[in-house]
Amino acid sequence: MIVSKDPNEVRDQILSWKSEKLSVGFAPTMGFLHEGHANLFVRSAGENSKTVVSIFVNPAQFNDPEDYLKYPINTEGDLEICKSSKVDLVYLPDKDTMYPGGIPEVELRIPHLMKNLDATTRPGHFEGVLLVLSRLFHTIPADRSYFGKKDYQQYLVVKEFVKVLGFPMEIIGVDTVRSAEGLALSSRNARLIGQEKEEALLLIRALRLGESLIRQGEKDPSEVLTVMRDVLDSSSKIQTDYLEILDANTLEELPILKGEILLAVAAFLGQVRLIDNLTVKVS
Ligand code: PAF
Repeated sequence: MIVSKDPNEVRDQILSWKSEKLSVGFAPTMGFLHEGHANLFVRSAGENSKTVVSIFVNPAQFNDPEDYLKYPINTEGDLEICKSSKVDLVYLPDKDTMYPGGIPEVELRIPHLMKNLDATTRPGHFEGVLLVLSRLFHTIPADRSYFGKKDYQQYLVVKEFVKVLGFPMEIIGVDTVRSAEGLALSSRNARLIGQEKEEALLLIRALRLGESLIRQGEKDPSEVLTVMRDVLDSSSKIQTDYLEILDANTLEELPILKGEILLAVAAFLGQVRLIDNLTVKVS
């Protein structure tokens, strides 16, 4: 496995693979890797000749500087996970390589998808994600890039971004990996302490209850939201950031529940912000 901090070396290696007609899959990450990431890497390795992973905690996408400073780092453990998940190359840029001269003043937006959900409660977040991905996609001109659907809005925004800007790359969304109890795996879970791990399960409980009401024929989003909110409110430790039911393709609000529907939640448990979602299709 090649490990490099040098963008020119990384790009040259990828171009050399491509000149040999080898396909390249890419999974961008912020490190502190877990089974959810490994799942992306193994999927990429199954669909491409070479798999590339980047590890970079991107300061441009944190609207809360405290959250950035507290973001967990474990480069040695990350490299072990990459090695055992069929990764061929790990790109480990530092801040100065990624943003020489500091974070540039440029605003990348996909307005019709950067509304509601995280776009509303984390202003500037997706602009920062698109900025770092633009830089990464120049260094790593992969054929396919892999994104977890736990960050569902990110997946939709990036897919549209790549399409409208004409990056010759396919964006693949990969289903969320969960613990046996149902908790969506996330690098932030590591910061949950004691009882918080139990309380975190209320997110998936609320989502699954909402999903089953919709499957049973409930058409009124406010009825479903009320029941879901009651589940979250049953814990005094959970502070809901958002709880929304939207069209899963347009992220528009739905007056009547039909088609492909996204149920999405973000909540704070102590200092830790968790997000999760489910999609459900009804006629
Ligand atoms: O999903 C993430 O971990 C980040 O938003 C990403 C895509 C690596 C960009 O920094």
